[in-house]
Amino acid sequence: MCGIVGYVGKRPVQDLLLAGLKKLEYRGYDSAGISVIAGDEIESLRAVGNLQNLFEAVAAREADDGGVAVAVQTATTGIGHTRWATHGRVNESNAHPHFDTSNAVHVVVNGIVENYVALKRRLQDMGAVFTSETDAEVIAHLVAHHCALGSLEDAVLAAFNELEGHFAFVAMRLDEPDKLVGVRKECPLVVGRGDGETFLASAIPAFLSETRRTQYIENDEIVVITPDDVRFLGPDGSEHEREVEEIDWDEETAEKGGFDTFMLKEIHEQADAIADTVADRTAPGTHVDLDDVGALDENMLRGIDRILITGCGTAYHAGLMGRYALEEWAQIRTEIDVASEYRYRKQLVGPGDLVIGMTQSGETADTLAAMRAAHEAGATVLAVTNVVGSQATRDADGVLYTRAGLEIGVAATKTFVCQVAVMYLLALKLAELRGTMKPATMERIVGEIKRLPHSVQEVIAAATDPDTGLPAGPVAEAAERHWQADFFLYLGRHIGLAVALEGALKLKEISYISTDAYAAGEMKHGPIALLEDGTPVVVVATDSPVKDKVVSNMQEVAARGAHVIAVAAESDHEIDEHAKQVLRVPDVDWMLQPLLGTIPLQLLAYAIASRRGLNVDQPRNLAKTVTVE
Ligand code: AGP
Repeated sequence: MCGIVGYVGKRPVQDLLLAGLKKLEYRGYDSAGISVIAGDEIESLRAVGNLQNLFEAVAAREADDGGVAVAVQTATTGIGHTRWATHGRVNESNAHPHFDTSNAVHVVVNGIVENYVALKRRLQDMGAVFTSETDAEVIAHLVAHHCALGSLEDAVLAAFNELEGHFAFVAMRLDEPDKLVGVRKECPLVVGRGDGETFLASAIPAFLSETRRTQYIENDEIVVITPDDVRFLGPDGSEHEREVEEIDWDEETAEKGGFDTFMLKEIHEQADAIADTVADRTAPGTHVDLDDVGALDENMLRGIDRILITGCGTAYHAGLMGRYALEEWAQIRTEIDVASEYRYRKQLVGPGDLVIGMTQSGETADTLAAMRAAHEAGATVLAVTNVVGSQATRDADGVLYTRAGLEIGVAATKTFVCQVAVMYLLALKLAELRGTMKPATMERIVGEIKRLPHSVQEVIAAATDPDTGLPAGPVAEAAERHWQADFFLYLGRHIGLAVALEGALKLKEISYISTDAYAAGEMKHGPIALLEDGTPVVVVATDSPVKDKVVSNMQEVAARGAHVIAVAAESDHEIDEHAKQVLRVPDVDWMLQPLLGTIPLQLLAYAIASRRGLNVDQPRNLAKTVTVE
């Protein structure tokens, strides 16, 4: 995901910005850039791909142009950015910093501006010339427009009050060379205080080697930094006081954003990850925009007879959730198989069939082989992946990217929810093209998908401690009660079955507790024999047309002494009668509740594994990317 770093002070800024961006590399990115105030110009450099390309561009400028190079080398104010593409392709013009028409205001932006289309139109009518396809550029023009008000902070404040979405940005203005103004709205941004110098960054590692003194910016705040001073303003312009805090993190803790582990950090990043994944595909209006998927244009999508989904592990479970959405919403015949099996089956696919390879890494050997086998048999192949340029993207006819950012924990969390979100979007797009969903239903569900980041945040907030981010409430209670269990059964029906499978996989891979996940209706055909007094049974009992059946299964297991932990909707009070513990999710559409239901189960697995003193980031025997068969 994107990274921001900014500096005002007395030292040469270019090296500090490049070093800061290097520290943010772990977040994942596909292009990068810096802008500095160099005398009477703002000088900018941007490059696609690895940061090394930006370093080389900087070196080339130094070798080529003495005048500019000297001005840049002595510059002491600047901003830098690593971009993870959301709106617009991966190319130099879409890389940040973005600038206004007169090149007097530069900005770096993380997150999404939801109302950028309307703002862009208005600014273009006033003469602004846009040079990128991004939503972020609108901020540069809007701030520049408001500079007529006086100071940069006045301009940023006015711009902030017109912007909708979730974002953090930092603006720099040629006329006020010793100042940066930042904004935080639901995306992270922090201040680093040095001696006669100040940093602004999306994460502490960007400046940790320079200063350990930090000030946190609250949500909806504007921050004005100069070398010696920092001011915090509310959206109404009122001044806020803020303590300076000393960071005692080492570099590794800093990379974990202060969380105990990468897995916990990644669980907490899920709202942002989903927002980045769905934003440019749903805004504006209710139309689902899948224009950037290569050969899969609307004509091709309209002609699909059948879909086959393949993948491994968690990716397979995301595919399974996608199958239910494709069947339910787009009424399209959909099959699914694990890649290690599918690749060796008789390939009965051909033209008219769409085969979807789900793989966050884009490098899983079995999934790649399954995709190739399908391609050779004549099917159109779509990759759903998180990694730009991975092998899956090169082998497929089209690519739908998840935008979860780099995932370091071996257990997939944020990439999973993004894969599911992408499958929901594909199902809605096909429903739209095939006319299988009423417009009012489409409008409601697209609206709920746009609000998914908020729903995800709600679930995380309810299930974790606000200070430490560790599992809390019913999740922590269930973990405390069962962390020594030697077996867990997970049950679900329909799309809830996929949640049960994923919950069980999360628990077994990080806690080494044996788990079984079953279609709840199949339970009485075997697994019921495993139940004893106190056996923990996790039941996905979110709203659905088969919920009554699920409740019957809960009664069956409770009658055998099992301890039922239910995942259920917020307003479902009846469920309390059938479960010892209930992990709640917001009352969204019944097809979306299961995605939210995976989050308390990730946290349950996390809490149990931590209680057992295990390394959740690197579980034994597992690799993040399985490049062997
Ligand atoms: C998930 O927690 C696992 N680490 C594993 O099942 C993983 O999902 C699987 O190996 C597939 O990986 P991929 O998405 O990179 O293809």
